[in-house]
Amino acid sequence: MEHLVIKGKQKIRGAVSINGAKNAAVAVIPASLLTESRVKIENLPKITDIFWLIEILKALGAKVSVEEGGDLWIDSAGVHSFKPPPELVNKFRASYYFMGALLGRCGQVEIPMPGGCNLGPRPIDQHIKGFTAMGARVELEQGLVKIKAEKLRGAHIYLDVISVGATINIMLAAARAEGKTIIENAAKEPEIVDVANLLNAMGAQVIGTGTDIIKIRGVSELGGAEHNVIPDRIETGTFMIAAAATGGDLLIEDVIPKHLDPVIAKLRETGVPLAIGPDWIKVLPRNALYPADVKTFPYPGFPTDLQAPMMVLLTQVPGVSLVSENVFEGRFRHVDELKKMGARIKLEGRTAIIEGGSQLISAPIKATDLRGGAALVIAGMLAEGETTIEGIEHIDRGYEHLEERLNLLGAKIERRIMTKDVFPGK
Ligand code: EPZ
Repeated sequence: MEHLVIKGKQKIRGAVSINGAKNAAVAVIPASLLTESRVKIENLPKITDIFWLIEILKALGAKVSVEEGGDLWIDSAGVHSFKPPPELVNKFRASYYFMGALLGRCGQVEIPMPGGCNLGPRPIDQHIKGFTAMGARVELEQGLVKIKAEKLRGAHIYLDVISVGATINIMLAAARAEGKTIIENAAKEPEIVDVANLLNAMGAQVIGTGTDIIKIRGVSELGGAEHNVIPDRIETGTFMIAAAATGGDLLIEDVIPKHLDPVIAKLRETGVPLAIGPDWIKVLPRNALYPADVKTFPYPGFPTDLQAPMMVLLTQVPGVSLVSENVFEGRFRHVDELKKMGARIKLEGRTAIIEGGSQLISAPIKATDLRGGAALVIAGMLAEGETTIEGIEHIDRGYEHLEERLNLLGAKIERRIMTKDVFPGK
């Protein structure tokens, strides 16, 4: 098992370029199953979630080739199975997109409940509600979700909860269904727009993404397409917060600043000076910081995926800040780890009360989810002494070479193989 060792009190300085968005990439890859023609996907991040998706595609019978620069060609003409291998599906959340994609392609799918970060209960009832409304039968048998439709028909679906996954999954199933599907109370995340752009390039008729009403007119066949994944707004935000927290000076390139509006607004409110260009954001050296009240909400609210990194920044701000998590019930597992580093954080229901302004100190800590893990890396960069983080496979699921890129910017992070004496008792 690997772990990270971080020598703290280093500032982040220089320039970094942002990769393609994980949460768009993990949906556009399964979307390629909706055509028998070849699909090219560019600007994919090199992260484990993507490697697993490729393995699943191959197991289903698709041919996948990766070009030298990392672009992917997917040829799913030979797909012969509607059963993604459980051992791969269990590893990550986004495998749930094989439900909509295989239902659209094969009319059926058998898949275990998806794995992924433990953020409290993560039901898929809204996905199921959508598939059922479109005429599919859904059964749960021996841990497998079995979904089958003689004929998928367009339907009018009102989501009870704003869900990124359900919105995309219904869009995938609806692309080749008979007739028109309307999703009301749809999620509006930029990643959803990106998936619709690929589908439309393949010949689908999807309109309204980015608003809360999406309309999909099903077509009988989809063709090949080439698609360039949008920049990762969460990776962008993570670097912005790392630079702001360490008091650094960082140019973040190849981004869509508009997708960061809620983050830009909150960082400015906190006193972080930012310059914004057409496809770049610069975090400038900061002076005084001010406490903030952060509330996570579906897009365009402050992203839940940046809640943990933002909390680390707020530990550096004198005064009391509040962070309310309104998207996931159990997304505060990083708090105990931050407390081990001396952070003064009290949890009251879904709100964290942060008494900031104290020096973090190094400690052996554990990443228990992807974004919480990234937050701990930032905390390690702020701490006095040497911080050791285990559980870094969570971080590798969503950030390409995070520590190498931070090291180029002035961090001092080493990846080592874990030995017993680092984490006594293991
Ligand atoms: C996606 O998860 C992202 N994952 C998450 O990113 C992100 O945090 C989340 O959207 C919110 O933005 C991927 O894109 C692969 P939801 P998802 O369905 O689709 C409830 C990261 O770190 N809900 O929008 O699972 C649910 O419990 C990851 O990159 C239902 O009740 O999120 C939650 O409270 C973590 N029933 C809320 O809705 C359902 O059927 C939002 O979940 C579906 C969801």
